[in-house]
Amino acid sequence: MLNIVLFGPPGAGKGTQSQKIIEKYKLQHLATGDMLRAAIREQSPIGVEAQKYIDKGQLVPDEMVINLITGELDNHHDVPGFVFDGFPRTTVQAKKLDEMLDAKKAPITIMLALEVEYDQLLARLLNRGKMSDRSDDQDEGIIRGRLDIYNKTTLPVMDYYKAQGKYRGVNGMGTIDEIFERICQVIDSSR
Ligand code: AP5
Repeated sequence: MLNIVLFGPPGAGKGTQSQKIIEKYKLQHLATGDMLRAAIREQSPIGVEAQKYIDKGQLVPDEMVINLITGELDNHHDVPGFVFDGFPRTTVQAKKLDEMLDAKKAPITIMLALEVEYDQLLARLLNRGKMSDRSDDQDEGIIRGRLDIYNKTTLPVMDYYKAQGKYRGVNGMGTIDEIFERICQVIDSSR
């Protein structure tokens, strides 16, 4: 199994690069942000609850996303691996993911961390906000708040994978294809 955690702050390009990775390596994409937005569109109980957090740019409670991922892992057998996009975002989530994957004897292979300068992140998200209907992209204050939460709550997840020797930093500046080439080099040298 090739299991990749694609990590990085809001606007780092996780969603963009995930699409290219899953196509090339035939992996299953599991993106908690996409799952939560789908639940909001359906106005399911989980969606109604998640919306209260997402609209404000806050993380939804760990238990909610862990339940989502558990269900998805159980739904996808016989895949060569997963790309986890936007998950784990807390060390609680990271530990839980390890437990789930250990039970399947298919641990995380690498954590790819996209490194992008703050001003570039802000510019990308403000630019997307002009065209997207994402509630958390519309207001610069909310975007800055998401970046603050990443620095305070999500960055420690990097140390969690560093301690396991699985952290791989990737320069996330440049064109989408340039970044993808760097990602492929790291993946191919880690298999
Ligand atoms: P989520 O959907 O995961 O959003 P995010 O992490 O804020 O990330 P984004 O989608 O904004 O950015 P990205 O890194 O995917 O970049 P993208 O490729 O889109 O989460 C949303 C919310 O859901 C969270 O705030 C939270 O409330 C909740 N949530 C989700 N998971 C959770 C969890 N595990 N625990 C708790 N809560 C959770 O690119 C961004 C833009 O830049 C695009 O317009 C793109 O076209 C552009 N772009 C990409 N690459 C380049 C490039 N190289 N050059 C120029 N532009 C580029």
